[in-house]
Amino acid sequence: MKVAIRYFTKSKKGNTKKLADAVSAATGIEAKTVSYDLEEKVDELILVNAMYAANIDKEVAAFLARNKDNIGEIVNMNTSASGASTIKAVRKVAEKSGIKVSDKEFHCSASWIFINKGLPTDADFERAGLFAKEFI
Ligand SMILES: Cc1cc2nc3c(=O)[nH]c(=O)nc-3n(C[C@H](O)[C@H](O)[C@H](O)COP(=O)(O)O)c2cc1C
Repeated sequence: MKVAIRYFTKSKKGNTKKLADAVSAATGIEAKTVSYDLEEKVDELILVNAMYAANIDKEVAAFLARNKDNIGEIVNMNTSASGASTIKAVRKVAEKSGIKVSDKEFHCSASWIFINKGLPTDADFERAGLFAKEFI
């Protein structure tokens, strides 16, 4: 099973980078930003992302479009301040490129400005690692 981890982080808190690093530590797979295209076809792409303005960032969408031929399936792992998942936005982009998205996803709430201080917690990061290990 070939698995890759890609993430996109935007805020100064770097919540998505922290989540991606936790997943990397748990799985032993290097986590790279979406500016690194996939070098070979992977069965599972662990896509660690967050919600911005009720959507995924355009860099995440562009990465998926560019790498569509190298992605067997996307595993969505994400955070938001509201508690809403990015999976609908990921599915919308993935469908356009003909990429499958796993029904299993990881989501947790995260800090944003003054909201959700201290989130994600260490327990969230641990849960994220355990979730990702299911796909290895
Ligand atoms: C510019 C910006 C816009 C955001 N818009 C939303 C939003 O529409 N809905 C929501 O639930 N969270 C929103 N958030 C909160 C982020 O989803 C949350 O803070 C996330 O953990 C950020 O990840 P990052 O630190 O890796 O950038 C926004 C955050 C930023 C920085």
